[in-house]
Amino acid sequence: MCLFVEVNLISEPLVIFVCATAGQGDPPDNMKNFWRFIFRKNLPPTSLCQMDFAVLGLGDSSYAKFNFVAKKLHRRLLQLGGSALLPACLGDDQHELGPDAAIDPWLHDLWEKVLGLYPVPPDLGVIPPGVPLPSKFTLRFLPEAPKMCSEEQHVAGADPPGPPSEQQPFLAPMVTNQRVTSPSHFQDVRLIEFDITGSGLSFAAGDVVLIRPQNQASHVQQFCRVLGLDPDQYFTLLPREPGVPCPTQLPQPCSVRHLVSHYLDVASVPRRSFFELLACLSPHELEREKLLQFSAPQGQEELYSYCNRPRRSVLEVLCDFPHTAGAVPADYLLDLIPPIRPRAFSIASSLLAHPSRLQILVAVVHYRTRLKEPRRGLCSSWLASLDPGRGPVQVPLWVRPGSLTFPETPDTPVIMVGPGTGVAPFRAAVQERVARGQTGNFLFFGCRWRDQDFYWESEWLELERKGCLTLFTAFSREQERKVYVQHRLRELGPLVWDLLDRRGAYFYLAGNAKGMPADVSEALTSVFREEGGLSGPDAANYLARLQRTMRFQSETWA
Ligand SMILES: Cc1cc2nc3c(=O)[nH]c(=O)nc-3n(C[C@H](O)[C@H](O)[C@H](O)COP(=O)(O)OP(=O)(O)OC[C@H]3O[C@@H](n4cnc5c(N)ncnc54)[C@H](O)[C@@H]3O)c2cc1C
Ligand SMILES: NC(=O)c1ccc[n+]([C@@H]2O[C@H](COP(=O)([O-])OP(=O)(O)OC[C@H]3O[C@@H](n4cnc5c(N)ncnc54)[C@H](OP(=O)(O)O)[C@@H]3O)[C@@H](O)[C@H]2O)c1
Ligand SMILES: Cc1cc2nc3c(=O)[nH]c(=O)nc-3n(C[C@H](O)[C@H](O)[C@H](O)COP(=O)(O)O)c2cc1C
Repeated sequence: MCLFVEVNLISEPLVIFVCATAGQGDPPDNMKNFWRFIFRKNLPPTSLCQMDFAVLGLGDSSYAKFNFVAKKLHRRLLQLGGSALLPACLGDDQHELGPDAAIDPWLHDLWEKVLGLYPVPPDLGVIPPGVPLPSKFTLRFLPEAPKMCSEEQHVAGADPPGPPSEQQPFLAPMVTNQRVTSPSHFQDVRLIEFDITGSGLSFAAGDVVLIRPQNQASHVQQFCRVLGLDPDQYFTLLPREPGVPCPTQLPQPCSVRHLVSHYLDVASVPRRSFFELLACLSPHELEREKLLQFSAPQGQEELYSYCNRPRRSVLEVLCDFPHTAGAVPADYLLDLIPPIRPRAFSIASSLLAHPSRLQILVAVVHYRTRLKEPRRGLCSSWLASLDPGRGPVQVPLWVRPGSLTFPETPDTPVIMVGPGTGVAPFRAAVQERVARGQTGNFLFFGCRWRDQDFYWESEWLELERKGCLTLFTAFSREQERKVYVQHRLRELGPLVWDLLDRRGAYFYLAGNAKGMPADVSEALTSVFREEGGLSGPDAANYLARLQRTMRFQSETWA
């Protein structure tokens, strides 16, 4: 995200930049124009010398290029003459307390600097802690339900102007939802197929589909009960300040049920700001005291063990603070609870092999913490719960390019490394390449046991038999010592080196961001040393060159 318009930048005295890092160290889509603008070579080095600035980065240290965009932007603004009020803040999703751990102290320092430069006029004063800001929206409840169902009209949309998008997703009929791990395996993984006939959706290998999940019906009911809301009541949403747009996902008028099931992320783990606002809204002394403790810097350890470690949800917290929950004014719901985020899935099929169809391979997130109820991933569990065999099922989705693009030339080899669900984009790539007659398809696949989680086994073997694919497998738990895809890469070092160095192969990696990408990169550089005779630094440079020239690409997820 990036919150400003670049045309005015030259005359702005103070700008706070908030930017995430996406892809593999890339700016997010809505920042790309600005990125091109700010890195234009012809910008004079004094362009921004009137500007004070601060950069707040949102990133995740499990990615190799941690907060790359924030760091690079900070350097560039200095280069253009801007004065940094503070070093860039590097928010980290991996921190126990989330990005807040870095953001809280940074914001404290930022306010000190800003108030030093621009003191609050004496007649205004600073809003004291404990007093909530006005809500962003007001909910005007309607005495009765509207005659026309605005919700169905809203999601179905009338003649969407372009291809489906976040603002106007396509309601894709689910065709199949099939478990592809053996029933005895601990991990439930689904192969899900959608019919996209007439959607205007188009995609190529490497693209991803975005899906907006919904809350479980029982959670919606429980939430309404605890907050004393009537799920069947309708309201219209009005911004308190002119010019503030209402969320496009919400129909007008909207029912409380729709708001809670489709919009409010009651299953997410709440942030510290949630406790802060809740404390402000609490009429109950004991509850307010506890909420204030969780909001205070010294209460962060306690908040971590209450909330983050056991992955307690917004809904569960509200149930723990019933007097406060029951008193939350409806106007504050959208300030208190973040919207449900869409989830990305690598598209696992090619339109060339499955016209009008889109398939995904979904690992259902399910794990335990010290809480009695097991934790379930919102989107994967919702998808797994849908059964097209019991009546029509529709899922709101749209498509965007992913990080992987494949060469068009007929005989450039591709080495694809995809353990677990990481194999999904390579299923699409193999289908696409085979349909186009492209040769040199090398796939490294890893799973736990051949007979438990070997996705698309028969398909791969058939393609091998036809000479369209070379498959290398690593079954991690079939022997005492773990065998992973990177072990196979090392064993096949001479082939890997030959493909990359002599035959100009492209190398792809997809799957779990934890550990695997670093291990695979390490295995590759060891192949460069062993087979190419390169020194340590030369091997690292060789890999960096492959990355720069897009011959090493990865799509990993945490
Ligand atoms: C580009 C891209 C492509 C992707 N492709 C695929 C794909 O092809 N297939 C696929 O299955 N997923 C894929 N994902 C991941 C997918 O987007 C979701 O993140 C995933 O399905 C989980 O979403 P959820 O809503 O079910 O879980 P959420 O409700 O979002 O919960 C997930 C969170 O739970 C926590 N968690 C999970 N497991 C544990 C654990 N064992 N212990 C403690 N905490 C845990 C983690 O914080 C995790 O972030 C992809 C992600 C991206 C960004
Ligand atoms: N939160 C986490 O840290 C975490 C980590 C892994 C998976 N998951 C969850 O598990 C589900 C399925 O994930 P997935 O399909 O991506 O993969 P996966 O099924 O967890 O793993 C696929 C294969 O990769 C192996 N593997 C583990 N560590 C590796 C490493 N460092 N390098 C190479 N291979 C490695 C696994 O072996 P072994 O299991 O035998 O080691 C397994 O054989 C998802 O729900 C995901 O959220 C979560
Ligand atoms: C597909 C994907 C790629 C990412 N790549 C990086 C990365 O290269 N470096 C990094 O520091 N963080 C990376 N992140 C983490 C995000 O920057 C982080 O989650 C951030 O909070 C997202 O903010 P947003 O939800 O506002 O986009 C990535 C996240 C995703 C989902």
